[in-house]
Amino acid sequence: MIPSIRYLDEFRTEDVFALFTDVYASGLMSADLGDQYACLDDFREKMQEVTARPGAIALAAEVDGKPAGYVTVIPRTAARLRHTADLNMGIASEHRGKGLGKALLDEALRRAAGGGVLEIVYLMVRADNLPAVRLYESAGFERLAVLERDIKAGADYFDGVLMRRFIP
Ligand SMILES: CC(C)(COP(=O)(O)OP(=O)(O)OC[C@H]1O[C@@H](n2cnc3c(N)ncnc32)[C@H](O)[C@@H]1OP(=O)(O)O)[C@@H](O)C(=O)NCCC(=O)NCCS
Repeated sequence: MIPSIRYLDEFRTEDVFALFTDVYASGLMSADLGDQYACLDDFREKMQEVTARPGAIALAAEVDGKPAGYVTVIPRTAARLRHTADLNMGIASEHRGKGLGKALLDEALRRAAGGGVLEIVYLMVRADNLPAVRLYESAGFERLAVLERDIKAGADYFDGVLMRRFIP
């Protein structure tokens, strides 16, 4: 599937929040959505703040008029770290495995390279999240470190993998 890729803020915040809710329901993310956003208004406010940073990238893949997947690349704020950014992405459960993740990631990296701000992109992924690890490695991310037992969900521990990609 070749999706139409648009800016995240072209969609209704309610639809974007519903997408994030679906993605975080996978349980594969290191945080719960509620840890980060208290409610829809809080989500809107925080997304506006991070995506307004110079060099920020926030894209969505559109399917049937709705956002079906997202990628954000958010620059860090400290003056000496503004050439670095953190990547986060997710595809709605019903649309996984159709090429949307690869298309979004490739487009985000293409824009990062053309943007002239970002030089390094980092991400954290759960070590057992093989679809994500494979996607990131195929896009040129390298494994920097395994953070043993980084995530604790109930009584279960999961390793995290810190990955990095230089932006040419
Ligand atoms: C990880 C995720 C973003 C991948 O997006 P996707 O649209 O499903 O992936 P794509 O269809 O674009 O596949 C791209 C590549 O990812 C890997 N991949 C995707 N699904 C896979 C699976 N079930 N098993 C193994 N590898 C898989 C493959 O390398 C694939 O390339 P290939 O088709 O040439 O083999 C998506 O599954 C997702 O949102 N998962 C839940 C949230 C999440 O894990 N986010 C990342 C947290 S760091």
